[in-house]
Amino acid sequence: MKKNSPIKVVVTGGAGYIGSHVAKLLVKRGYEVLVIDNLSTTSGENVRYGKLIVLDLSEEEKGWEVLKGFKPDVVMHFAAFIVVPESVEKPLKYYYNNVGNTLRLLSAMKRAGIKNFIFSSSAAVYGIPEIIPVPEEAPLKPISPYGESKAMVEKILADMAKAGEINYLSLRYFNVAGADPEGELGPNYQQPTHLILRALKTAKGEFPYLEIYGTDYPTPDGTCIRDYIHVMDLAEAHLLAMEYLLDKGESLVLNCGYGRGYSVREVVAMAKKVTGIDFEVKEVGRRPGDPPVLIAQVEKIKKILGFSPRYEDLEIILKDTWAWEQKN
Ligand SMILES: NC(=O)c1ccc[n+]([C@@H]2O[C@H](COP(=O)([O-])OP(=O)(O)OC[C@H]3O[C@@H](n4cnc5c(N)ncnc54)[C@H](O)[C@@H]3O)[C@@H](O)[C@H]2O)c1
Repeated sequence: MKKNSPIKVVVTGGAGYIGSHVAKLLVKRGYEVLVIDNLSTTSGENVRYGKLIVLDLSEEEKGWEVLKGFKPDVVMHFAAFIVVPESVEKPLKYYYNNVGNTLRLLSAMKRAGIKNFIFSSSAAVYGIPEIIPVPEEAPLKPISPYGESKAMVEKILADMAKAGEINYLSLRYFNVAGADPEGELGPNYQQPTHLILRALKTAKGEFPYLEIYGTDYPTPDGTCIRDYIHVMDLAEAHLLAMEYLLDKGESLVLNCGYGRGYSVREVVAMAKKVTGIDFEVKEVGRRPGDPPVLIAQVEKIKKILGFSPRYEDLEIILKDTWAWEQKN
């Protein structure tokens, strides 16, 4: 990296779960962070690192003014709506925010002369993949408006990169879980939908029971298998991605996972072990659109970015989340 002054990073959606963990790591490593968030699905409590500007990305002129003033070296774009079933019920809401407001951000960046972009994409772009572990080259066949919105942004970014308008890394996260091991940050969703969080909140008594959707999948125990990645390893991947972008200026698409999976039953068993609470579980039918197995091929991120996970153990992922849940 060429600069002597600190590298400046804008983190959109930095009041949210993943963005706040990335902001913390950035600040701890000496980067200057500006968080842009409209606090629509989270509160400002997770913004403990970096300065917060409360702004909706639909306000392109204001976004442009902020970017022009701060002059970031990189924009990391986490802001989005993220609840897959809700995207099926309210597609316009999802396309408007996840695609429309990303376009406004990209346009503001272009006008402010900022070219480096890191995008929060998702394994949802693959839909129901044919090859497991799924490689980055697999066809994109999303099956929800949420996944479609991420695939659309990836297409826009690819075209912009081809035309020299942007340098970007698109990181396709698999199932993000865990919490800051120092206990300062954790998932702060208003609508907790992810399995690990639901299981632990059920153990806490926030829900009467945990539902398992589908026990007749073609997997060893009949339940779906997912590649759970600890949010701190994902945060580290963002720092590596940023260093790569600043050094090489090349655009890339990378899976972010561990290349291994756990079934729903394995997660539930681990949640009971970690909490010591035998909460109630109900087996119900499949949910439409759940792929039986979703595991990332991770050779690329390991080879190109030197990604080397530290929190791969499912027990650690659950213990860190449980510690956070007990505090909050
Ligand atoms: N959590 C996962 O497992 C997962 C998996 C794959 C991809 N992702 C992606 O990672 C990103 C972050 O996810 P998260 O789990 O931290 O979600 P989150 O809901 O905790 O964070 C998103 C943040 O974006 C903000 N936001 C939304 N729309 C905005 C707008 N128009 N203007 C300004 N701020 C806005 C929200 O207020 C929130 O603080 C999202 O893009 C999501 O699609 C998450």
